[in-house]
Amino acid sequence: MNEAYKTYDILFNVPPFTGNEFKYMQEAVDNQKICGDGPFTKKCDEWMEKRFGAKKAMLTTSGSSALDMAALLCGIEPGDEVILPSYTFSSTANAFVLAGAGLVFVDIRPDTMNMDETKIEEAITDKTKVICVVHYAGVACDMDAIMSIAARHGLMVVEDAAQAVMSTYKGRALGTIGDFGCFSFHETKNYSMGEGGAILINNEKYIERAEILREKGTNRSKFYRGQVAKYNWVDFGDSYLQSDLNAAYLWAQLERADEINNNRLETWNSYMDAFKSYADSGKITLPAVPDGCVHNAHMFYIKFADLETRQNYIAFMKQNRIMCVFHYVPLHSAPAGLKFGRFNGTDEYTTAESDRLVRLPMYYNMDKKDTEKVIEKTIEFLEEHDV
Ligand SMILES: Cc1ncc(COP(=O)(O)O)c(C=O)c1O
Repeated sequence: MNEAYKTYDILFNVPPFTGNEFKYMQEAVDNQKICGDGPFTKKCDEWMEKRFGAKKAMLTTSGSSALDMAALLCGIEPGDEVILPSYTFSSTANAFVLAGAGLVFVDIRPDTMNMDETKIEEAITDKTKVICVVHYAGVACDMDAIMSIAARHGLMVVEDAAQAVMSTYKGRALGTIGDFGCFSFHETKNYSMGEGGAILINNEKYIERAEILREKGTNRSKFYRGQVAKYNWVDFGDSYLQSDLNAAYLWAQLERADEINNNRLETWNSYMDAFKSYADSGKITLPAVPDGCVHNAHMFYIKFADLETRQNYIAFMKQNRIMCVFHYVPLHSAPAGLKFGRFNGTDEYTTAESDRLVRLPMYYNMDKKDTEKVIEKTIEFLEEHDV
């Protein structure tokens, strides 16, 4: 076990594991096909297409590389601008910076921590090409509003759905509403293969280019399907294919996706029920799930009155051997954010709300006794400390 983790009895995250992972990895070895696009990759891709209704799903080496592909498929050129929240992981921004775009950060909504859809339009300039939304904690952005802004201004939409596998908005899977959706299967996510991700392509016209992009700029995918006699270097590209060994590991979880989802929701609901009265009395703020959004219990967070109380809570939980963690430091104030982007309008909520936020332990198969201990200690903190 990681040395730093030994000071805790209850970790913040334990990577999902269903029990069939090694069996399927052995099958991949027996298949003598452990590189990309093997039988398990096919199973995962087809499952995502069927389950979520994506035109095409492709496993990638990470959520970050799925975003890199999306940025390139959007046809970003130097000088273009991308609108995104500052309250996100560096990968959301990196993808567009690597493709040559400038970043325009927009404030978030305090209820969901998602980009405030009412502040997007004022950030649009004649250089804007893409709106990249992030469905924080697996709770959807206001996609009706965002898609209609994009349509009005002729912009493309990328959904960073790294945290949102299995979440929906008005019945539609997150990741399938914009032009491209990007999932992460990192070990901290609801479904995992260690490092991994997927790109969902919702507009058929980009499928062929995506296949070339992830196959080192070649039309090898067409060759494998017998559509060309030999394959060739046809455009620029890179290697974004995931190994079939990792896909085998992931498959053991995707085939039990509902069970994992329901199990996480149980823990999430236990937290919600236990802390609701403290939110009602105004001591803390809890996650909001707007009408029309069904979330995947990716994360349970509490927002305390301020940064100091949040830090005191994290320290108190650590004394009780429970690992609770803060989240993103807003990108617009980070060195690279200052270099590559600008914040449009005022930062009313991004910094203030991120300072208040702490994430509680949440993972598949979390022992109920551990959930109860997190609840008990949190309530002790809320009762005994001046919050
Ligand atoms: C919102 C968001 N986008 C992108 C990523 C990057 O995903 P990955 O770690 O699979 O590259 C993460 C990872 O934590 C994330 O939270």
